[in-house]
Amino acid sequence: MRKLALLFAFLCLAFFSYGQPSASADDACALACATQMYSLPGVRYMHRLKAACPEATLQVEKLPKGLVWNAERCRVEGTIKKKGQYSYVVLISHNGQTRRDTVRLTVSDDLVQPTPLMGWLSWNVFEEEIDEEKMLAVAHAAKHYGLDTLGYRYLCLDDWWHSGSERPEGEYPDYDHVKFPHGMAWLADTLHRMGFKIGIYSDAAEHTCAGAFGSLGYEAADARQYAEWGMDLLKYDYCGAPNDMAEAQRRYTTMGRALEASGRKILFYMCEWGQLAPWLWASETGATCWRTTYDSRDFWDWRGYDDSGHVGVVQGLDGMKNLWPYSGVNRFNDADMMMVGLHGTGKSSSFDAQHYLDITGQPQYVGMTQEEYQSQFSLWAMMSSPLTLSFDIRHISDDDLRIISNTEMIRINQDAMGQQAEVVCDTLLSGGQRVEVFLKELANGDIAVAVFNRADSPATLCLTPAMLRLQGADLLFHDVWGVSSRDRFMPSDGLPVKVESHQTRVFRVKRV
Ligand code: GLA
Repeated sequence: MRKLALLFAFLCLAFFSYGQPSASADDACALACATQMYSLPGVRYMHRLKAACPEATLQVEKLPKGLVWNAERCRVEGTIKKKGQYSYVVLISHNGQTRRDTVRLTVSDDLVQPTPLMGWLSWNVFEEEIDEEKMLAVAHAAKHYGLDTLGYRYLCLDDWWHSGSERPEGEYPDYDHVKFPHGMAWLADTLHRMGFKIGIYSDAAEHTCAGAFGSLGYEAADARQYAEWGMDLLKYDYCGAPNDMAEAQRRYTTMGRALEASGRKILFYMCEWGQLAPWLWASETGATCWRTTYDSRDFWDWRGYDDSGHVGVVQGLDGMKNLWPYSGVNRFNDADMMMVGLHGTGKSSSFDAQHYLDITGQPQYVGMTQEEYQSQFSLWAMMSSPLTLSFDIRHISDDDLRIISNTEMIRINQDAMGQQAEVVCDTLLSGGQRVEVFLKELANGDIAVAVFNRADSPATLCLTPAMLRLQGADLLFHDVWGVSSRDRFMPSDGLPVKVESHQTRVFRVKRV
């Protein structure tokens, strides 16, 4: 019995340590949160601190002017007006020992990714068939539907823009001249003149995931060429590279430094799928967002299908929800492209286990329900994950447009304080439904609250001020998706919220 209890305790510890640096005797009480932070001048800053061992006590000293230590909420907060490099020291006390960690804080109005990237990537819908004509059609459609004004600015070439599977003679990369007859510089220039930014893709090994030539050993030449073409983003994959953290750090740092030296501001988007805990080290390489899971699929819950590691919405959410201590302005966890708009039409996102055969015997994929697409959009927005579209945006239905153009939801995602939502309640209701409440603090003092129902049946949960850590204020609830059309104050005994199966209700809450 005792052995069983010990095994259970060990398993619990292992489960709850997921996402944290491993605790050895030397660093048992290191910080388990980011120590390289960013903020915008004059904008509210918040750094929620977390130690590797929960019983540790934290103190902060040497705070720059404008910031204070909120011991009750365990966070550094305030506003720094002037651009510059700042630091403060965190004291972590545990078992009679005190460790000091320094946090570096860059305050700048010239950050590459102050708020999560928004845009579109070519892979899921076009795969190897991406070309200039499609990129232009996508750009025109994005303008037509007003996606640019909503913030979807980055239109990204994913894998296979390349001239072939082997690098051409000489140092520099080349594109496929048949697919891109006017050339990359022309395409970039055209997209820029339309008000967009353009992204490109490569891999930290000899070949990309789909078999084009990669950048290993040619980082400087590639970065220079991307800059010369006018690229604004590099998605940098990890296929064919060793499963070794030190080596991944080295390869990403080499490309990060090459991009910095290229003379152009290029957003460095790390696509290592979260296997080597990039949230712990990616920011130091120059990356400003990093994937936290394998590729997402047009499917709600992958469990029970296979163990390939591909992720449905539920797995994407679970892969990043405990990683909030590593997210912030200019450093975002990325739960991969959203599936909204696909309805089973994506290439790699559709999969064998989920189709029916039409009368000609062809497989037809169905994708998810509109409620599930909206849930994913809401949860990704709450978690400050990049909002990247992956469907054929040349034709957007009214129902899909309604989801991706919810400006209040986008504003929550793009909030200038860059906080990733944290789970403040995860509860099993008497009907067996599992409901989670997410809370995201916003720069103007409001908070965003999301109530998410994983279950296959509707649930009702009562939100209380204590649950939201907001006692002592009148709380005005505004329903972001308009399920309830009137704003309402939270009654003193709490606000009951009904959530349909797989639905996410989102509120913007004002303290008045
Ligand atoms: C990997 C990435 C995808 C996509 C493909 C392209 O699977 O995770 O997002 O870029 O490669 O080959």
